[in-house]
Amino acid sequence: MTDFDQQYAARTAHLPAPRFVPLPAREQLTPAQMLAKAEALYAQMAQRRSVRRFSTQDVPRRLIELAVATAATAPSGAHRQPWRFVAIDDLTLKQKLREAAETEELKFYRERATDEWLEALHPLGTDHVKTHMTDAPWLVVLFAEKYGLNPEGSHRKNYYVDESVSIAAGLFITAIHNMGLATLPHTPSPMGFLRDILGRGKNEKAVLLMPVGYPHPEATVPDLRRLPLESVLQWNQS
Ligand SMILES: Cc1cc2nc3c(=O)[nH]c(=O)nc-3n(C[C@H](O)[C@H](O)[C@H](O)COP(=O)(O)O)c2cc1C
Repeated sequence: MTDFDQQYAARTAHLPAPRFVPLPAREQLTPAQMLAKAEALYAQMAQRRSVRRFSTQDVPRRLIELAVATAATAPSGAHRQPWRFVAIDDLTLKQKLREAAETEELKFYRERATDEWLEALHPLGTDHVKTHMTDAPWLVVLFAEKYGLNPEGSHRKNYYVDESVSIAAGLFITAIHNMGLATLPHTPSPMGFLRDILGRGKNEKAVLLMPVGYPHPEATVPDLRRLPLESVLQWNQS
């Protein structure tokens, strides 16, 4: 044993031994199948757009459960799983949240946003009016658990919370798009009102407010272009 091994063994001697299980069963695809699946997923995701105008048509609760369950398969720092989702379909609550969001957004567009920020947002055509918050059948609020709470109230550290929660958000958005529904990662900042209205603990911070539903039949989206692959991908170094 090296010095390092000895030290590590001494510092972890009081902990239960790690337990391992076989990797969950997975189908081994042929190279051709892999390529076909990869191309199909890319083609599908290339059609994803953030939607800001929703139909009021109902979406079954089970679909929201499945999207959250999918999001919660995300990897996380030290497996702390620091994501918490609140799903809301109660119209009175959605109205209350919309009113609070619009108050913050109005301040943002009138006072808080720098000229540079307004210029960046201008192509999106957004303003402080957030009809999606009451039209969409569901609002899903994603909270980051900044630290956990032990039964006696002491804090339990979480690791790489922002990174972990962002990965979960990506999976949630993918799951929603995959079921043929739409969402929008909305950040009516500052988002403290979400914790207050939804009664979440001080150890949680709202990260995204996501309406979920069918796009309105007349929904339009800003004319945006995504960066070409060569701008976002480098092979080795040159
Ligand atoms: C972290 C984050 C915050 C965002 N906040 C808002 C927001 O507050 N309001 C809004 O209308 N869109 C918001 N968006 C959506 C972006 O404007 C949108 O993703 C971007 O314009 C690209 O469009 P696409 O999602 O249709 O590809 C946000 C997106 C992300 C990832």
